[in-house]
Amino acid sequence: MADRTLNVMCICGSLRRGSYNRMVMNALPGLAPAGMNITEAPPFSEFPLYNADEEASGFPPPVQRLADAVRAADGVIFNSPEYNFSIPGGLKNAIDWVSRVPNQPFAGKPVALQSAANGTLGGGRMQYDLRRAMIFLDAMTLSKPEIFIGNCSTRIDAKTGEITDQQTVGFIRQQLAAFAKFIVQHGPRP
Ligand SMILES: Cc1cc2nc3c(=O)[nH]c(=O)nc-3n(C[C@H](O)[C@H](O)[C@H](O)COP(=O)(O)O)c2cc1C
Repeated sequence: MADRTLNVMCICGSLRRGSYNRMVMNALPGLAPAGMNITEAPPFSEFPLYNADEEASGFPPPVQRLADAVRAADGVIFNSPEYNFSIPGGLKNAIDWVSRVPNQPFAGKPVALQSAANGTLGGGRMQYDLRRAMIFLDAMTLSKPEIFIGNCSTRIDAKTGEITDQQTVGFIRQQLAAFAKFIVQHGPRP
């Protein structure tokens, strides 16, 4: 595997207390391969709505913090629900702001996608749109394995936050192992 620690940062697309996607995100350090360190991104909950006029007077500090953290990470994982068949508005707003920071930090960045949703498709339509946004930003998005946790309330224990469905746990382990290799192959050397 990697000859160095891979620092991976997760961006959770849900602001909800008790979010299933946050539960999945919180489980990742325990499912990561040796040498992968997984932490949570600085929050985007305080971002204003993107407005070019505000950008002209400087980037808000929370935007700069998230942009700096994306830049510093060896890889980024999005853990996000699907809202109305697409990217949750708050997350899209965060990506829009970060994309405006000079020398935008998603360029060349290894990215992996995970989604949990109550629908049977598990957020697949959201991932399609998120992939497209990452293409525009020149990120390197892992193709496979894909993680769509459909009917998430039956696979994750809302009380304990544990992923109870062992097949899902196995898929996540496989994706994280693949992501480690992907980062080594495609990510910039430090
Ligand atoms: C505004 C809104 C739109 C939603 N749209 C979808 C959808 O398009 N597809 C889907 O599977 N679930 C949809 N849901 C249900 C979410 O999958 C469910 O609320 C999920 O638990 C949200 O993720 P979270 O637990 O991480 O907050 C929607 C929920 C909200 C609040």
